[in-house]
Amino acid sequence: MNCFSLGTMKTVTRSYIKKRCNPLIKYIVEGGRPLFGEIHISGAKNAAVAIIPAALMVTGPCRIENVPQISDVTILLGVLQDLGASVRYLNPHTVEVDCTKLRNGRVPYESARQCRASYYMLGALLGRFGAADVALPGGCNFGGTRPIDQHLKGFKALGAQVDTQGGFVMAEAAGGRVKGTSIFLDKVSVGATINIMMAAALAEGMTVIENAAKEPHVVDLANFLNSMGANIMGAGTDVIKVRGVDSLRGGTYSIIPDQIEAGTYMAAVAACGGSVKLCNIIPKHMDCITAKLTEMGVEVQEVDDSLLVSRIGPLVRTNIKTMPYPGFPTDMQPQVAAALCLARGTSVITDNVWNSRFRYIDEFKRMGAQIQVDGNLAIIEGVERLTGAQLEACDLRAGAAMLIAALAAHGISEITNVQYIERGYEDVIGKLRSIGGSIRAVEVPEEEPLAVSSAG
Ligand code: UD1
Repeated sequence: MNCFSLGTMKTVTRSYIKKRCNPLIKYIVEGGRPLFGEIHISGAKNAAVAIIPAALMVTGPCRIENVPQISDVTILLGVLQDLGASVRYLNPHTVEVDCTKLRNGRVPYESARQCRASYYMLGALLGRFGAADVALPGGCNFGGTRPIDQHLKGFKALGAQVDTQGGFVMAEAAGGRVKGTSIFLDKVSVGATINIMMAAALAEGMTVIENAAKEPHVVDLANFLNSMGANIMGAGTDVIKVRGVDSLRGGTYSIIPDQIEAGTYMAAVAACGGSVKLCNIIPKHMDCITAKLTEMGVEVQEVDDSLLVSRIGPLVRTNIKTMPYPGFPTDMQPQVAAALCLARGTSVITDNVWNSRFRYIDEFKRMGAQIQVDGNLAIIEGVERLTGAQLEACDLRAGAAMLIAALAAHGISEITNVQYIERGYEDVIGKLRSIGGSIRAVEVPEEEPLAVSSAG
């Protein structure tokens, strides 16, 4: 068992961040091999990055299990420590956070810029202290803006005065506590649903969030908060009712498995061929991805909490339209696009969530893919083969997609900016190697430095 004290945890966190956010690492991938074996899916990144800020609202020790070992988690735990929390790893996937002595603090730009999800500190601090002062996260790597107007609309409706100045959002509730209300989101937003739900959990009275996001991690956050004493009903439907409570108490909670990590390995099997068992998943969460992969000629068999994913025959074209859950997730479109590059016929991807999330396509083209982009549409003509190339990851899922394309391609690829990939995929190299992928990490010589950023 690996048990860190607070002092050690600080050291571990800082050095881990430095190592894992290091742009001076690249992956070398030798493609063209089918994948066979078994992979254990980690805890969900998008749930973890909401639950860790939510722990800030809890008085007493809060034990979180199935925490993925990814840099976004490490960064957020560091932010909690900076705010005065005690953070202790009980084993590599269980962390105990105690925010009892937390100061009602400010999250500075230096912390916020490293992880977009640090904006969840807004809802959490506003709920706990009736006031929050959090720097806005850095730029967007999807290639468009990432507005937070619905988050702010929610905080205002809860009675907070909200100011955005100098790159900070400052929210303050009159009388030191937000008040329950009804909020209709103009747009289905995961982030706004989560931020409002957190603030409302400790509000005075009842809050109703209509047109709420239904993603598994929204439900997971609600379950986490409920297990700590909150009273949240309807998470997973588009109307969430939150009856505010006076305080949250400590407890133990286990994070759900990562739908997108599992989907990414499914897309890798689709692209490379082979047969891989994905363990520790919730099959229901995978339905929207399984349905498309099945259309593409991939066989998916459900056995308890695992999926056996196989592709023996040729890949077949399909069309994909991304939608909020339970639709096809936007966070899976780049990875499935990698497989569709090798499918027979013409496929069309329409991204209805992010309208310019196709920056990765120029990299695919350099591997021989035939793709045209028109606004939020990508039209993919399947080709017989992709060839290895030098690739630069531009965000987390784009990076994962390049990894899949490289594994399926003939020849050797080099992927740089892999710190994006390591923000959201635990031990991606180890997991891929265990199923026969030829991939290794090497240091980039000093003269080729690359940028670091925060989108996610
Ligand atoms: C979350 C996910 C991200 C995923 C996205 C959509 C996390 C940490 N990140 O991001 O990986 O791609 O959901 O599934 O969970 N919008 C507004 N106003 C707002 C907020 C959002 O117009 O105030 C729009 C966005 O521009 C976008 C759409 O709503 O078009 C969905 O965004 P949202 O669900 O909020 O995404 P995130 O929570 O940022």
